[in-house]
Amino acid sequence: MSPPIRLAVFGSPVAHSLSPRIHGLFARQCGLQVDYRAIEASAATFAGLVRTLAEQGARGCNVTVPFKQAAWELAARSSEEATRARAANTLVFEPDGTWYADNTDGPGLVDDLAARPGCRLAGARICLLGAGGAAAGILGALLRVRPARVVIANRTLERARQLAERHADLGTLDTCSPVEIGARAPFELLINSTSAGHDGVAPALAPEWLAPSGLCYDLNYGSAAEPLRLACERLGIAYSDGLGMLVGQAARSFQLWTGQRPDAAAVLADLRRQH
Ligand code: ATR
Repeated sequence: MSPPIRLAVFGSPVAHSLSPRIHGLFARQCGLQVDYRAIEASAATFAGLVRTLAEQGARGCNVTVPFKQAAWELAARSSEEATRARAANTLVFEPDGTWYADNTDGPGLVDDLAARPGCRLAGARICLLGAGGAAAGILGALLRVRPARVVIANRTLERARQLAERHADLGTLDTCSPVEIGARAPFELLINSTSAGHDGVAPALAPEWLAPSGLCYDLNYGSAAEPLRLACERLGIAYSDGLGMLVGQAARSFQLWTGQRPDAAAVLADLRRQH
């Protein structure tokens, strides 16, 4: 029997990561053996730990907060998605010893949204709340599905403007501060990329911002998603957490490493049953 495929996720904190479980389920689906570990790193140790993993014969790794930019900088080559985001969530260790960086967060989100009955992204009006690293990771993929327009709303307007500028060639983008969202509404899709949920708060929102059958999609999941989920419930707004995106980005990473595309929907259903 061949040895298991070595993989890992680097982050800080990373002990809570669902990735080892998700990739374990993918491997079972595909009849593969994987050894996928969560490895805690610091700014000082990150590059060395990734190098050690590569030297041990691993196929690649995932990278999560706060090392996505550092991962992109370490790679010799990177995909259009990663270059646009200036951040990578996936590294592939090539047979020639070089590293390839990709960012599967955006495609993972688009896959999850596209799998929803009645959700049409092409031609949709989308409001993206937040303009930090998480927003940068998904904006390119969102614009590539040709929405009618994307409005980036951020507390710090300048950050929204800079993000919009970097993506201006991909589609129609507008920026505003959160208090101006109402004047630009309605939207079929409101995406929360802010980190407010990690501090136990939900970004302000109003039901009028959403078109009939509109959806509020939170990139957060688990306890960080609770504040916005509760706010949407209170306001009668359809809500989804980002667990589907997590599984979607993992499926695309798994395919990069193994050549096999796992069934993300089955794994997502499995995780939902257990939470
Ligand atoms: P991440 O990598 O998770 O995106 P980040 O780059 O620090 O983290 O970005 C955090 C995002 O959440 C930013 O858009 C931030 O707004 P500012 O740019 O104005 O700081 C947003 N954010 C964080 N806390 C927030 C809150 N309480 N309300 C609204 N937006 C918030």
